[in-house]
This record gives sequence, structure tokens and C-alpha cells, in this order.
Amino acid sequence: MWRKVSWPIVGLIVFLLASIAWAQAGHVYVVPSQTSLEAIAQETFGDAKYAPAIMRATNSKHLVDPSFLSINSLTMGIPAGAKLLIPDRTWAEAFIAFWDPNRPEDLFGGGKLVVGSWWTAGGEAEGLNALFEIYDEHYPDVQIVNATIAGGAGFAFRAVIKPRLIAGNPPDTFQLHAGLEVEGYSPETYLMPLDKLYEIEGWDKVLPKDLLDLLVYKGHYWGVPVNIHRANVLWYDKAVFEKYSLTPPKNWDEFFTICEKLKAEGIVPFVMGNTGGWEAAHLFETILISTLGAEGYKGLWTGDTPWTSEGVTKALEILKKILGYVNSDYSAHSWDTVLEYIAAGKGAMNVMGDWAMGWFLGKGVDVGWAPVPGTQGIFDALSDTFCLPKLAPHPINALGWLEVCGSKEGQIAFNTRKGSIPARTDLTAEEKAQFNPYLRSCMEDFARDAIVPSVIHGAAAIESWVTDFKDAINLFLVTKDVAGTQKALVEAAETALAAMK
Ligand code: BGC
Repeated sequence: MWRKVSWPIVGLIVFLLASIAWAQAGHVYVVPSQTSLEAIAQETFGDAKYAPAIMRATNSKHLVDPSFLSINSLTMGIPAGAKLLIPDRTWAEAFIAFWDPNRPEDLFGGGKLVVGSWWTAGGEAEGLNALFEIYDEHYPDVQIVNATIAGGAGFAFRAVIKPRLIAGNPPDTFQLHAGLEVEGYSPETYLMPLDKLYEIEGWDKVLPKDLLDLLVYKGHYWGVPVNIHRANVLWYDKAVFEKYSLTPPKNWDEFFTICEKLKAEGIVPFVMGNTGGWEAAHLFETILISTLGAEGYKGLWTGDTPWTSEGVTKALEILKKILGYVNSDYSAHSWDTVLEYIAAGKGAMNVMGDWAMGWFLGKGVDVGWAPVPGTQGIFDALSDTFCLPKLAPHPINALGWLEVCGSKEGQIAFNTRKGSIPARTDLTAEEKAQFNPYLRSCMEDFARDAIVPSVIHGAAAIESWVTDFKDAINLFLVTKDVAGTQKALVEAAETALAAMK
């Protein structure tokens, strides 16, 4: 029978199937007799209030397929035979919750979606592109503008985006760490609370409690999480470890024994970059977790653990000792360029968040991993979210973006490339199987370990504190003054805790 089907017909079928898959979610409705949008909304949704959602969805569709009706007003008569797109209920509800009758353009499709982020490095860019591809499948009428500002961990990004937000010229959506980082954006003034969207999408039922708690600031959700990253990972060169019969160090004594051995072999034991000015502080944060434990570390950011603690002194001493084994050119490398040392077998170990896994994946490097020495059973967590500025020029386009970010489809496509795990916890075994062994083990660790918030990546502290913390560590790299640095850290904590009262 197949032999009888001609190739043009097969081509046509493939094209039709593709265009169905590429449509914005919803179904086609052909109007039987002259009617109104409200009557159609009443018939299809059981409620006339959905008329604007049908108008927007149909107009968006019209831009890529003119056989759909172009609707120029909510009260326009809809002629018999007209083709409309009835959006799915979740999208329609989100639209009704966020559209603004004073913004007539909300009812028309097209336009841009300006996405602000700092994802430019290997793994990051691939993950972001995967999200763009999905968005484009759902909203082919919208032109995506990838507004990145390079610089790991977003310090450069925030410095640019904040004045834009204040000046009333924000992108449609932008990257924001879950946690106290949002305080720096005065969200009540500049961002839209997303509680209603969480309710419509049911995100509060599929996101882990630890993350939901982190996402609430001043009683509201301000961002939609796309992932969970782990900051306390020790990456190691498998071939070097095999060659010298080494096993990943479980504590700092083992770590330094390995360092000695490798140094004698002419291999850089530990590699680090610091051009971003945050990478050394990232390392220090993970050392603090090892010396203070989960509760002790968490207490640093709430005032429950004094910064004068012995654990802080010890952490500084460990960092000082590590500096005796790092690549001498660390101030000329960023978190990603320094990984070339490991890719080339010239450097053995590195501490970085698991976006490094995204980088290694992109380069095809089979890297080893273990928790940072002394942090077994603890997961130093952070999450990337996207928010909706109050003055977003294309808020409805941004709404679609937030839905993609929060969707299973988006999170699977993104995280398998990015080196992070989905924020959603409702993946099936089959869906989990799409992730590599590192990420699968990470999902298990996240479910089992004690979760602590990362400071350098916006979860644990307000931004001014993060800056003071990072500056103290950068100075320490030069002075190696343990007592003086601890004093600076104590003062930074006092200032920040007073400001947070
Ligand atoms: C972000 C990651 C990013 C990393 C390096 C972190 O703060 O959460 O998504 O890959 O910085 O840029």
C-alpha cells in the first residue's frame, strides 16, 4: 500500500503534521454562522470573559497563517466560515490575568520578545537556544531578541539591567536568581508579582518546597525558575586521577595530599579563574560549608552563626593553602576559560557550579565529579528564574516565555544542555533518562541532601552583602591576611544584618 502513496502526498502530510506541531497550543474553530467573539468564548470556554484571549491567539496565528481571521476589535462581528484559534485553557487564563485593556497591543500578535540574561558561555548559550527553539515553535509570530551581557554569575548583567529598569526601559523578561537577589531590584516597584501565574500553572504543586520558600520575597513570587544548579562540585580530570591512582578527596587533608603529589608531577593541582571577580568567593563559600556544616553555614546569613567563628578562620586558612596550588594566571581566566586546563589534561581539579558540566558537555570532555571536600550530603543550591518587569514592552510575549520556562518541555530541553536539573519534580522515569549520569545523580542528591542557599549566586543574602563578601575575598587573594579578612567579613555581616532588620 505504501508504494502507492506518491511522494508529493507524503510531503504534504509531513508539512501538515509539522504545522500542527508548530502551532500555538489550542485548536482550530471554524465559525458556523455569523456571531460574536463573546458568544464563541461562551461556547468554547463556557465563559464570555475569554473573548480577548481568543482574539489574541487568533491574531497571532493570522500573522503566520493568513487563513486565520484577523480580528481588529473585540466587538467585531465574526463572519460564518472564519477560522479562529481557540487557545488552551491554561494559556487563556494566564492571558486574562495579565492583559491590560489599556494596552490595545495585547490583543494583537507579533512584536518582539527581548530576553535579558548573562548566558553566553559554552553550555549556557546552548541551553538558552533550546528554550528559544521551543518558544519559537509555540509563538512563531514573535521575534526573539537575545539580549545577553556576558560575565559569569551576572554581576556585569545586573549593573546594566538595574539602571534600565529604573529608567523604564527594561527587556521583556530577564534572568534573576531565586532568593534575596530580588531585593536589589525593588520588585514591588519594578516587577510584576507572579502569584496568579503560579496558581494557573499549578507550579506550587510541582516545585520543591525548599525552592518555593526561596522564591517568595515580601509575600510574592517574582520569578519563574527554569532550573536548580549545584555550586559545591569538585570537577576533576579523570585521566589524570587514573594515571596517578587517585580517588576524589573526601576532606581537605586528602585534597592537599593529592595537590602535593600532582605538583611534583608538574600538573597544576587546582585551577581557578577570577576575572569575573566572584569565582574565588564562590570557592570560599563552598569551603565555609565544609568547615561549618549545613546549619552553621546557613546561620552565617541569618545572624545565627557568628562570623567570628573558628569555622570561618579555618575556611580562610584552607583558601590560603589552596592558593599555593593554583594556576599562576588565575586572574586572567574566567570560570569557563580556565576549564581548558582540565580539558587539555594540564590541570587536575576545579571547584565550580555545575554550569561547568554544561561547558564540559559542549566540549565533549568526560569529566569526573564529587562534592567539594567535606560537603558530602550537602547541596549548595541556586536557581535561575525569569521575571516580568512592570514596564515590559511586550508583556504578553513575555508571559509565553515564562510558561515555556516553567514547562516540563522547556526544562528538559534547557537543563540537559545547561548542566542543571529541572526545578520541577514531576519528571517521569523516562524523562529523567534523558539526562546524563551526573545530572541524574544530582537529582537524587537534591532530593536527599541538606539544601543550603548559595550566597554568590543570589540565594542567601542581599546584593550589597554579596558584594562586600566578594570584595573581602578578592582582597584576601592579595593580602592572604586571615585575621584582617575575617574582621572585614564580620563588619560586612553587621552592616547587612542591620539593613535587613
Ligand atoms: C548562574 C548560572 C550561570 C553561572 C555562570 C550563575 O550565577 O546561575 O546559570 O551559568 O552563573 O555564568
